[in-house]
Amino acid sequence: MLALTALAVALSTVSTMATPTKRASPGPWCDGLGSGAFDTSSSFTLAAYNTTGPNANSTGAPPRDGQRRRTAASWPDALVYPTASLANGTLILSGTGDALPAQAVAVQEGDSLVFSASDSANPSAGAQDYCAVQPESGLPLLAVYGDTDSFSLCQLAWENVVFYKAAPDQGYDFDSCYPVKLQIVFQ
Ligand SMILES: *[C@@H]1O[C@H](CO)[C@@H](O)[C@H](O)[C@H]1NC(C)=O
Ligand SMILES: *[C@@H]1O[C@H](CO)[C@@H](O)[C@H](O)[C@H]1NC(C)=O
Ligand SMILES: *[C@@H]1O[C@H](CO)[C@@H](O)[C@H](O)[C@H]1NC(C)=O
Repeated sequence: MLALTALAVALSTVSTMATPTKRASPGPWCDGLGSGAFDTSSSFTLAAYNTTGPNANSTGAPPRDGQRRRTAASWPDALVYPTASLANGTLILSGTGDALPAQAVAVQEGDSLVFSASDSANPSAGAQDYCAVQPESGLPLLAVYGDTDSFSLCQLAWENVVFYKAAPDQGYDFDSCYPVKLQIVFQ
């Protein structure tokens, strides 16, 4: 399993925003998110907006991390998978260099956003757990299971990793977790 990682992309390039590809009716993985929901989009990075603490700006900070394992990754990993897109409810990671194809694994409560990376991975067949929603103002938000409100940044070794419904005793420092919204920054 891959471990989530950093967003390397300079967030100062926010000015050229691509339009999400809105389908007439996104799939059931968008249920509950209203008319601003979309499940297919062009390429983006994520910015973690601290919902309870200070933010340097209205975009939020890139989740920082450097951990990588051979056969799995958590996203975002700025070095190996700098960007992602949404395709019919799954996340498609765009890799650099010799990055292996990465397929979204079903998101588990208490875990990070995990992808299996291997030569036989099929990104477009990944778990359809993801959606995005455009609020009335501000950047679009990433959702898992129709939920934009359950992401945290937690310390795992020396990295800040995104977790869904962070919980104690899961192998990371739960006391370090703080809630974030995952803002979608189109390239
Ligand atoms: C986010 O807010 C929390 C307080 O809820 C704080 O402990 C944490 O340091 C903040 N994170 C950053 C990156 O400022
Ligand atoms: C917002 O602040 C973060 C640091 O917290 C920085 O990495 C990012 O580039 C800034 N984004 C913009 C658009 O200035
Ligand atoms: C989206 O996924 C659903 C369920 O897997 C499938 O039935 C549908 O054909 C897909 N639509 C597109 C446009 O890929």
